[in-house]
Amino acid sequence: MTDRPHIGPTALAPSRRTLLKAGLIGGAGVVAGPMLWTQAARSAAPATGVHLSYGADPVKQMNVSWSTAGSVQAPRLDLGVTPDYGLTLRPESLSTIRVDSVYHHVDLSDLRAGTRYYYRLSHDGGSPTRGSFTTAPKATRSFRFAAFGDMGVAEDAARNVNLIRQQGAEFAFVVGDIAYADTGGQGKSRKTQQDFGVWDELLTQIQPSANGIPWMTVVGNHEMENGNGELGYDGHRARFRHPGNGAGGGQETYSFVRGNVAFIALDGNDATYEYTRNAGYLGDTLDGWLEQQLADFRGRNDIDFILVGFHQCAYCTNIAHASDGGIRDRWEALFDRYQVDVVINGHNHCYERTHLMRDGKPVQEAPRGSTVSTNQGTIYITAGGGGGSTYPDVLPVLSYYTDAHGLKIPEPTTYRAVGDATHSVAFFDAHPRDAQGQARLDLEVIATDGSEVDTLTIARTR
Ligand SMILES: [Fe+2]
Ligand SMILES: [Fe+2]
Repeated sequence: MTDRPHIGPTALAPSRRTLLKAGLIGGAGVVAGPMLWTQAARSAAPATGVHLSYGADPVKQMNVSWSTAGSVQAPRLDLGVTPDYGLTLRPESLSTIRVDSVYHHVDLSDLRAGTRYYYRLSHDGGSPTRGSFTTAPKATRSFRFAAFGDMGVAEDAARNVNLIRQQGAEFAFVVGDIAYADTGGQGKSRKTQQDFGVWDELLTQIQPSANGIPWMTVVGNHEMENGNGELGYDGHRARFRHPGNGAGGGQETYSFVRGNVAFIALDGNDATYEYTRNAGYLGDTLDGWLEQQLADFRGRNDIDFILVGFHQCAYCTNIAHASDGGIRDRWEALFDRYQVDVVINGHNHCYERTHLMRDGKPVQEAPRGSTVSTNQGTIYITAGGGGGSTYPDVLPVLSYYTDAHGLKIPEPTTYRAVGDATHSVAFFDAHPRDAQGQARLDLEVIATDGSEVDTLTIARTR
């Protein structure tokens, strides 16, 4: 007699993770009863993990993604400007290693600007899942967006999802370390959390927000999964869609414009001196693309702010990872030359913000609550409080940066303006130019408990 639990609805209802722990599925010891039940359950189960992302043009394009527990018959998306739908589309369906889940994607184009669309996701034998989204307006108007990294599956991460909903963000920019699929974070872990479906848990966690607004994800070091594609990114690629207009035809870098703000997503794993598994795989191709993007956006009359997001920090005093010399060596001169307004990073699990920076030095103070002009310098933000366990915030007189040899080189922390160790999300309100030609990007960082961590008014004049 084994200690196998009772096989009934209650015992079978738990997730694959629970069943794996109980020894009911996986490996060679598949139990016939649960497997038959599981196949039937998969077909009947509705779409889960529903999430959206912008295509290259948020006015016209939206990608709708969802998961099913296994392969299903005739997965489909019904779409319309009313809940009567009218258009039925078949997704591209992708599988990936170590899970039975299938990930479905429909990349919508030629949508109407500023229009609410209703969608319904279904397959043969499964109950439908409904949602809606609104495309970006053609005209520039004020809008709010969220930015953060280092979420993972955790209680405060789920609370942050709720915070993003409550705050009325129109999209989220997620700067890496999304699900912590690779536990070690160096792309070398032999056993990963993905074995237990942590990606699926993450998708379930974010659905209450991501089924209605785009979540634009960027890879961090924990997206480098050992054994999952040459770069380790195949787990992320199977689950999240991206604009597809980045360097070298890859998915990890991209850009999009929302109103008067241009967003550029970079792959910090390419530039880092810390965990170098993927360092330099795009190299000059990435930097050439970045410069062309920056020159294009800075030259456009309809764009005021340029916001660049990637995972590893150019400037952060937190001694867990501190600053990355590789990021500075590769991109800081470009950020200066094209007057990038804000750089958003994660990696250090805390919140931190610099003064205005130029040429590696603080050039103007930017205390909490102040108004600054990013014509004068770039603000670097570490928004690593997405939900992963926080790192203590100790403001040392000296922090360090990692150099090309992987050595930690001490340096003063005079660039730091604000720091905080609690979980939080950075929100930005982008406002169009006023009559004097000044546009504003109002930063408000809100802790998971609702308290205010930081505010800053970022202005730019043409
Ligand atoms: Fe992290
Ligand atoms: Fe990280």
